[in-house]
Amino acid sequence: MKKKILIFTASPRKDGNSAILALEAARAARQAGASVEVINLARLRINPCRACDRCREKGPGKCVQKDDMQKLYPKLIEAEGLILAHPVYWFSINAQTKLFVDRWYALGGDEYTCFRNKKIGLILTYADRDVFSSGGINALRAYQDIFNYLGAEIIGAVYTSAAGQGQVRKQAGRLEEARALGRKLAS
Ligand SMILES: Cc1cc2nc3c(=O)[nH]c(=O)nc-3n(C[C@H](O)[C@H](O)[C@H](O)COP(=O)(O)O)c2cc1C
Repeated sequence: MKKKILIFTASPRKDGNSAILALEAARAARQAGASVEVINLARLRINPCRACDRCREKGPGKCVQKDDMQKLYPKLIEAEGLILAHPVYWFSINAQTKLFVDRWYALGGDEYTCFRNKKIGLILTYADRDVFSSGGINALRAYQDIFNYLGAEIIGAVYTSAAGQGQVRKQAGRLEEARALGRKLAS
């Protein structure tokens, strides 16, 4: 059986560095035999969680909000591996990704069982010189807590400074790291 991998990008700009790395990971994962879908969160309509707790009555993935999350819940439940790939905004997770992650709350009615043992890859890009000054470290720390809580395993993270659109294409080492992440997720 082919491994099912979902890759979420979240840069609102064309030729985003985080998306370039994500596409490298996707290509490598496909070559390694996985079934891979890449979804750009920045193009979807994802509302904030309303904390109405109706999902706790209706069951996992049954959110009352009729937006694009309805399509994503079944895919999320099915996937064996996920990659979250996004730019660092204001020293942390960008809003496009955070809205999506907040809505995972609707998968928690049965203690988030669908996340258990999922494999997770992370891809972060930022403009500042390193993972500390950019705030990328805050996003990584948040993901440590989030996936530990959910019982999922972070298997790798690729992060780099790349400010201008498409600039990461010149970073051969990072492109290879992204491909290695894709292969690892597929294995
Ligand atoms: C709203 C906004 C906030 C940003 N905040 C940060 C930041 O806190 N730290 C940083 O190093 N870069 C910051 N940046 C720069 C982006 O993270 C950087 O350009 C990144 O490479 C963009 O990734 P992308 O090409 O995938 O869109 C910010 C950019 C924007 C538009």
